[in-house]
Amino acid sequence: MADKGSEGKNTLSIRDNRTGRDYEVDILEGDVIRAMDLRQIKVDDGDFGMMAYDPAFTNTASTRSAVTFIDGDKGILRYRGYQIDQLAERSTHLEVAYLILKGELPTQSELDDFVHEVTFHTYVHENITDLLEGFRYDAHAMGMVISGVAALSTFYPEAKDVHDPSARWQQIIRLIAKLPTLAAYAFRHHRGLPYVYPENELSYTANFLNMLFRIGTRDYKPSPVLERALDILFILHADHEQNCSTTAMRVIGSSNADPYSALAGAMGALYGPLHGGANEAVLRMLTRIGSVDNIPDFMDRVRNREERLMGFGHRVYKAYDPRASIIKRTADEVFEVTGRNPLLDIALELERIALNEDYFIERDLYPNVDFYSGLIYQAMGFPVEMFPVLFAIPRTVGWLAQWEELLEDPEQRIARPRQVYVGVDGRDFVPPGDRG
Ligand code: CMC
Repeated sequence: MADKGSEGKNTLSIRDNRTGRDYEVDILEGDVIRAMDLRQIKVDDGDFGMMAYDPAFTNTASTRSAVTFIDGDKGILRYRGYQIDQLAERSTHLEVAYLILKGELPTQSELDDFVHEVTFHTYVHENITDLLEGFRYDAHAMGMVISGVAALSTFYPEAKDVHDPSARWQQIIRLIAKLPTLAAYAFRHHRGLPYVYPENELSYTANFLNMLFRIGTRDYKPSPVLERALDILFILHADHEQNCSTTAMRVIGSSNADPYSALAGAMGALYGPLHGGANEAVLRMLTRIGSVDNIPDFMDRVRNREERLMGFGHRVYKAYDPRASIIKRTADEVFEVTGRNPLLDIALELERIALNEDYFIERDLYPNVDFYSGLIYQAMGFPVEMFPVLFAIPRTVGWLAQWEELLEDPEQRIARPRQVYVGVDGRDFVPPGDRG
């Protein structure tokens, strides 16, 4: 029961029926109680005290964060207070990156300096290209980029100084700058094409497209529509508060690991099909369904829980993911340049059915960011193995902002959850010959 305690604070009264004792714990900003306040609840003095049990952290706030706000019921997403649709319409990825990292939109000269810094750190050491050369021709791009990011830590030993803000900033710039280069090299490796070095006069996404797709001409010019579409997709993916990979970044960062190692770990978390690998899984699913005629069978399997409708559902959004509607609009603009992706009809029909069927309505399952993004990426010429990489490039910004916030937060210590031990009690060792 919540109450105003004697000092005017909001408190929660808890009665322990095992002992008949009453406890009061403070309710803090955000309607949370401190899990450690439960520890006082004991059966006797020898008791460890009460803990909260929360597998998958579905109802646990692990931090107080000022980066990203989500209202999952209303479908609202804001970075540092700015509404996602305004940013997607009026800003650029690097401007949004600055906002997310620094907390405020940059002035023109701050933005120019930031863009200059990122642009001048896009090259990777030639030994990194040698490392990438060691991968098989069909290596998954995500595995290559994760390895490249982890390897960068060995080139910048000063990155270990995670408590020095200027050393941190240096690594933040390097990571944002070098991720597209690593990603493009992984893509070219897969195709057996020579690597294209970064071009400093191009924008962040134009340079990326140039490194990916330029073949045999110095005059390759990425379509401005595709350059802008990719920039919008990057803005939409830049941060999403305490999701699986960001939590991984924070957990690894809490041991004071360098940001390259932490970010490689966060990328590993993103890679899974339930998270950032979902865009790849959506495309594979749409390709497998193959035609609108096969949708009824597929949906039967979803209803019977033999399949998941990939790109649907979200732990936090119980409404249409605001990013998905922006992506859907962007898809139309991209298809005008690239031609319509034939899988779009299947996707639209799946969405139509899902938005009208009890199974999905009862479970609040709406399209998420990954449902339409893969269709755009495919139309732009990316193979499915690149999709999670295209998620990781912009999310690098969010991971790093959250990592900095963690390191600056005096309440954070090394992450170390508790467990409820349910294994065998203490027993004596028996030699192999005596085991029954
Ligand atoms: N298709 C069919 N049923 C689903 C789906 C789906 N995509 N998602 C959830 N459900 C059902 C699930 O079976 C469960 O039903 P019941 O209560 O009858 O057992 C109910 O909805 C709740 O699902 P949950 O798995 O407990 O929900 P969660 O919050 O643990 O998982 C999720 C969230 C995103 C992992 C899940 O919705 C999912 O697997 N979606 C498909 C993968 C996907 O698109 N992931 C991208 C997420 S957005 C971008 C990102 O995070 O990177």
